[in-house]
Amino acid sequence: ITVDSNQYYKEPFRPQFHFSPEKKWMNDPNGMLFYKGTYHLFYQYYPEDIVWGPMHWGHATSTDLIHWQHKKIALFPDQLGLIFSGSAVMDTYNTSGLGTKENPPMIAVFTYHNMEFEKAGKINTQTQGLAYSLDEGETWTKYQANPIINNTTLRDFRDPKVFWNNDTKLWNLVLVAGDRAQFYTSKNLINWNLESEFGQNKGAHGGVWECPDLFKLKINGTQEEKWVLLVSINPGAPNGGSATQYFVGDFDGKTFTTSQKEIKWVDYGTDNYAGVTYNNAPNGERIFLGWMSNWNYARDTPTTNWRSAMTLPRTLSLSTIKGDYVLQSQPVAQLDKQLSTDFSIEKIKLNKGTNKTFTYSNLNQSKIQFKAENKNLKLVFSNDANDLLVLHYDAQKQTFAIDRRLSGKVNFEKSFGEKIHSTPTPNLITKNIDFLIIMDWSSIEIFLNGGVYSFTEQIFPNQPYTKLTIQSVESQEIKNTTIQSVKRIW
Ligand code: FRU
Repeated sequence: ITVDSNQYYKEPFRPQFHFSPEKKWMNDPNGMLFYKGTYHLFYQYYPEDIVWGPMHWGHATSTDLIHWQHKKIALFPDQLGLIFSGSAVMDTYNTSGLGTKENPPMIAVFTYHNMEFEKAGKINTQTQGLAYSLDEGETWTKYQANPIINNTTLRDFRDPKVFWNNDTKLWNLVLVAGDRAQFYTSKNLINWNLESEFGQNKGAHGGVWECPDLFKLKINGTQEEKWVLLVSINPGAPNGGSATQYFVGDFDGKTFTTSQKEIKWVDYGTDNYAGVTYNNAPNGERIFLGWMSNWNYARDTPTTNWRSAMTLPRTLSLSTIKGDYVLQSQPVAQLDKQLSTDFSIEKIKLNKGTNKTFTYSNLNQSKIQFKAENKNLKLVFSNDANDLLVLHYDAQKQTFAIDRRLSGKVNFEKSFGEKIHSTPTPNLITKNIDFLIIMDWSSIEIFLNGGVYSFTEQIFPNQPYTKLTIQSVESQEIKNTTIQSVKRIW
């Protein structure tokens, strides 16, 4: 499918270098898999409207995670239900028997949501189904004996993530059941054994658990490995609505354990939800994509033709900071190929209580990077429509905050422009702070200190921001500044 970029991708607020569907509604990323040089991205899709509706799996492919090609819809609802979130693997040794050794099947495992059962008030609304493709994801066949995991007791039972466990030489599956994660094993991707459950007295429980993921990461600078469990939760996020928490621990192929006491979040902004990672990414990289929205207002954002985008693909890593495990994220390096005119200012000297304003034709498609000292600092993005987006580092409290209350259109839903969103206290911010800020029309992604903290938020300015004002209460120097515009991909 080729995109008519004259018709689409020119609407107000349309992201220019993030993945968004050609048209209509999208939510969670699904089935993320790298195979034969191609990154596959499937996603929760409703092709009839720009609000959530009967779910399909949309499909797109990319060779660099930046430029995407839209494909045909991969999975359609059937008599067993709508197609909710899930994952995909290559069954390289044809363990399922659904392909051949010469032509192994690509396998998708997803949740069926049965609307008839839901209407009838039945409890077994959600089961897990399987589909396979023998042509690299172009066309799909549903397994004839679906569902492969049945359910008779739980209303919320969904979002299976399947992966090959090289330690145990078995397939693993993790799904969510209410506010617990369940771990399964299988030899053939079809018959699954429930091994254990996780979640009691651990993590945040303000809502239903959704979209789990489980993977191993080496701790930066060591040979030590730890397992990371991602669990999205809605509602119950630190800023209201939806967000993704993580746990660092151990997994023996059957049971996940952790001594972690505090609740940790992948992102401290409002708009990074249902994020999971690629199976089989090259060079052992762990690449994450989230849905850049929040169920509080996902259906109300002021866009036309389409709704919502994915975060930039991010490389995840694990480090120990102040004796604690921290999941870090950084946009994939390939993004740098999209950077055009480079405006760099070596040093910005700010005297006590002064401001400096830089004017550009458009800051809404940009990457901004600099290093600051451990002193109060405010960055204000503005335009002639008097929209103000404020980023604030408070050195006394050691908090970073984003304030979108006056950033543009905010009144489409009551919580969107209600609060300032900030890092937790105490936190892991250190003496000098690295800022990386990426703006793409209706989103801002902020990475502090190499992604120790990230903030992802939607914004809807009435006009592009054209001014960046840097304010300081104390005298200080801001170094290594680069402001670059990012080329469109569509
Ligand atoms: C998360 C979620 C999933 C579900 C899907 C339905 O955003 O609620 O739990 O599978 O969306 O579209």
